[in-house]
Amino acid sequence: MAHAEQKTQGDGGRFVGTTWQDLLDLETVEVPEYLRVKSNPYMGDEDLSVDRYISPEFFKEEKEKLWPKTWQMACREEDIPESGDHFVYWVIDRSVIVTRTPSGEIKGFINSCRHRGRCLRDESGSVDKFRCPFHGATWDLDGQFKGIPNDWDFEHIADRDMSLPQVKVATWGGFVFINFDLECQPLEDYLDVLPQHFERFPLEKYFKAVHVQRVMNCNWKVGAEAFMESWHTVETHKQILTFTGDANSQYDTFGDNVSRSATPMGVASPHLSEVSEETITRDILKLSGRMATDSDANVDMPTDQSAREYVAKMNREMFEEAAGEAFDDPTMAELQDAILYSLFPNFQVWIGYGGNIVYKFLPNGNDPDSCIFEVMILLRHPEGTERPLAAPCTVLSADEPFASCEALGSLGPVFDQDDANLPAVQKGMKNSATGKVVLASYQESRIRHLHQTIDKYLNA
Ligand code: FES
Ligand SMILES: [Fe+2]
Repeated sequence: MAHAEQKTQGDGGRFVGTTWQDLLDLETVEVPEYLRVKSNPYMGDEDLSVDRYISPEFFKEEKEKLWPKTWQMACREEDIPESGDHFVYWVIDRSVIVTRTPSGEIKGFINSCRHRGRCLRDESGSVDKFRCPFHGATWDLDGQFKGIPNDWDFEHIADRDMSLPQVKVATWGGFVFINFDLECQPLEDYLDVLPQHFERFPLEKYFKAVHVQRVMNCNWKVGAEAFMESWHTVETHKQILTFTGDANSQYDTFGDNVSRSATPMGVASPHLSEVSEETITRDILKLSGRMATDSDANVDMPTDQSAREYVAKMNREMFEEAAGEAFDDPTMAELQDAILYSLFPNFQVWIGYGGNIVYKFLPNGNDPDSCIFEVMILLRHPEGTERPLAAPCTVLSADEPFASCEALGSLGPVFDQDDANLPAVQKGMKNSATGKVVLASYQESRIRHLHQTIDKYLNA
């Protein structure tokens, strides 16, 4: 039977247990407003059609109506620090050369020669001009046409504007976003609450310490959605249950483009009973991949502290040392919880004082059944020290486990557990007898939110 309102955590007794807000009540410093906010308007309980993930027709709709209209994170500003540095961005059949111009501005040029259309750049890199590899037509770094060999044969274009067409480019948090739609809403409006929520975390000052990319054999939304709910932990990531409050998570949606989940760490899953504080602490330090140290060492925990308090204190010391500064009243939540934001359609970023993990899921060419998964980890460096160089992107082949990538640490095996499901989800959907996907009302509200925003583009 359909409920006329959204399930909410802790209100109305539907979820019996500790909510994330209950844990925030235990903070000993002032809790910033952005953590306190709860926003989960009821969006319905209808099933989704599996066609949204598997059908070439739906993929084509997205290709024609969604990707040409949305803001997409292409790269980090630090990937193109100098004049002439450029990043070649592809989404399905469209490509942009995201370029640092001599004035330091960033521009996005359509990656297609105005002579006979060859891609101007096959790969990211650094150049002093854009010279087409086919016949040698040339543009400067600002996209102004500089000529073509045998120009006696091109007198008819002498008076034409032959500059490179551009896309919209804007930055936030050190990320470069592009939009093919020249009439699009400004990025700052599109970002909604993100800049306000990230006020304590100036991501533009952080550096990209890790960058890994791999093809996943599932639709881009199947991939993205695996990071939009925490409750699959109970079955998929059992090894982290001793320190992950999976079912205690809070889920929020903000406007059309932003949603978040906040999963408390340093507390045992409500699916387990009688987990000692020592066990929570030992396991989180060893297995979480996001703590100050992944340590096997015996924990010598003071008896007057909870695991959550102990880990927060330990993380604070380590993170402050790495950052070379004292944090201003950090909450335990910001020192350890998994607080993950998403920006429509395919960008996700963690908030907090530890390494900020970033995910992106792009369609893989024209294939509805695979996507390109990218993960980055952003770290702080002490104020006044030189920014470490941005890590180059390590591309894993589709059969290479994430665990083989040392830089990912404990995250690797967790991604491998997700990867064990995702291609099977894609396969299983094609075999569905009902053709429908059923969503949890509250814990999968972010997924419903994603689809409702997709529909706004497809029906526009
Ligand atoms: S296609 Fe580029 S110069 Fe001919
Ligand atoms: Fe997962």
